[in-house]
Amino acid sequence: MANVLIVYGSTTGNTASVAERIAKILSGEGHTVTVLDVVNAKADNLCNNQDCVIFGCSTWGDMEIELQSDFISLFDSFDRIGVNGCKTACFGCGDSGYTHFCGAVDVIEERLEELGAVNIINKLKIDGDPDASEDEIDAWARSVLAAL
Ligand SMILES: Cc1cc2nc3c(=O)[nH]c(=O)nc-3n(C[C@H](O)[C@H](O)[C@H](O)COP(=O)(O)O)c2cc1C
Repeated sequence: MANVLIVYGSTTGNTASVAERIAKILSGEGHTVTVLDVVNAKADNLCNNQDCVIFGCSTWGDMEIELQSDFISLFDSFDRIGVNGCKTACFGCGDSGYTHFCGAVDVIEERLEELGAVNIINKLKIDGDPDASEDEIDAWARSVLAAL
């Protein structure tokens, strides 16, 4: 069984609810899952003792990509989280009406790869209300399960 950390940044609760849904599916298969609001995350060695770390972040801004505000400080300290060689996956909520749909997820995934993370699955981008995308979220979580 794997230790999985899901760390998320969420302003209106959408990415938080996706994080909880993913956690329920992974823990339902016996994995040890910790769900952490990025507000409470400490960058140093965040990925230590984790078999997989899943990063969730919504996108803000308009003409340019802005990470969810709480997530920025962790992102700026990504070089300290010890992600080299760690399995990772990324997801987030956004709105396809914006120029950079879920752009934060792209930025985070790219930075993690630069730092030597082992991305295990295509990123998940949720458009609009996550309650309308439950099947998509569940399918993604099952793909994470298969890659653990
Ligand atoms: C001012 C504003 C700017 C936004 N900018 C973007 C954007 O650039 N790209 C995007 O995909 N979604 C954008 N969104 C949509 C949010 O990311 C979306 O509402 C998301 O579900 C919020 O998730 P959260 O509750 O987890 O923070 C924006 C929303 C607002 C209100």
